[in-house]
Amino acid sequence: MKLINNSMLLVVLFALGSCNAQNKNSAATSLKNNFKGDFYIGTALNVDQIEEKDPKVDALIRKEFNAITAENIMKSMFVHPAKDKYDFAMTDKYIAYGEKNDMFIHGHTLIWHSQLAPWMTQIKDSTEMKAFMKDHISTIVSRYKGRIDSWDVVNEALNEDGTLRKSVFLNTLGASYLPEAFKLAAKADPKVDLYYNDYNICEPAKREGVIKLVKDIKANGGKIDGVGIQGHWRLESPTIEEIEKSILAYSALGLKVAFTELDITVLPNPWDLKGADVNQNFEGSAKMNPYPKELPDSVQKKLADRYAAVFNLFLKHKDKISRVTFWGVHDGQSWLNDWPIKGRTNYPLLIDRNLAPKKAYQSVIQLKEKK
Ligand code: G3I
Repeated sequence: MKLINNSMLLVVLFALGSCNAQNKNSAATSLKNNFKGDFYIGTALNVDQIEEKDPKVDALIRKEFNAITAENIMKSMFVHPAKDKYDFAMTDKYIAYGEKNDMFIHGHTLIWHSQLAPWMTQIKDSTEMKAFMKDHISTIVSRYKGRIDSWDVVNEALNEDGTLRKSVFLNTLGASYLPEAFKLAAKADPKVDLYYNDYNICEPAKREGVIKLVKDIKANGGKIDGVGIQGHWRLESPTIEEIEKSILAYSALGLKVAFTELDITVLPNPWDLKGADVNQNFEGSAKMNPYPKELPDSVQKKLADRYAAVFNLFLKHKDKISRVTFWGVHDGQSWLNDWPIKGRTNYPLLIDRNLAPKKAYQSVIQLKEKK
């Protein structure tokens, strides 16, 4: 009798325990609430999400995130398709979405060599480029003055070795396009936070490049408030040590540090490829798409451990970190399903294709519960 009682007690305790665990991850649990007071938790939005096409996805976005970035619609080719033509239809909707939901609104991006409108690539000399930059930056930043909280003023200006990337901006203006861009943005909205944003900038050589670039911008009269570490990472790299060195190095320049495009690929790399150069794309084999149906538990666990280690570091340096933004809401919409090989099934985020939290989500939430 005593034995039966003890077993029954165990069953009741387990049931209570699992209820309790479920409660911890119920309606009240969310990424944004979990890290409230530490840093904003953001996501990148695509067109359908800005237009609230799917109510379930929309509810999820509002529950989990308190910061947004436009994944594509603010890029030059969409906003400024012809020299005398701006198209703000989608960007207006994006800002309205953020305001309606009381979110931190980030602008991505003003000056980037990629996704330029074709006419921009034809700009030939410094006079034309100066006129373009003045018009482009002043028009866009002024339009949303006081409504956008921070801007990626310049995106991905560096090569892997830390030197300046060849682009239409560098070709026409030399290195002076960088301080120029930051000056123009500050003039259009003196209060908005201005960021330099790039990938692989936890790697030593590129990190040195960022440090030099920031110093040059400041020395030439530009106002810069932060560095955006994109965070397109892998399970094994960059190391926590290199990420920490980068947080410390950028913060030592007097800048805010944001993680702006976080995702962690779990798929094999076709070549020794790091980061996110969008110009590279090629077909792969079935071997390159090993988890077309579901992610094995062993890899879920690796992803969860990696995210826990990364967020543990973020919490350690929360005084230096302004925002952590995921590059997408859920695995099903991640750009990593199509890059560097189209049509793969990747699992880089905290929320799965069915909009359910993954093991990695729990591992990140639990960090705060332990503290
Ligand atoms: O909208 C068209 C659609 O009409 C067409 O049918 C389809 C065919 O492929 O393409 C669609 O456009 C794609 C667009 O994303 C919207 O999904 C483009 O081909 C594709 O190149 C574009 O990729 C974006 C990429 O930037 C290039 O701009 C990704 O979604 C976006 O996640 C990615 O984001 C960048 C950041 O802005 C900067 N840092 C790196 C990061 C990842 O590359």
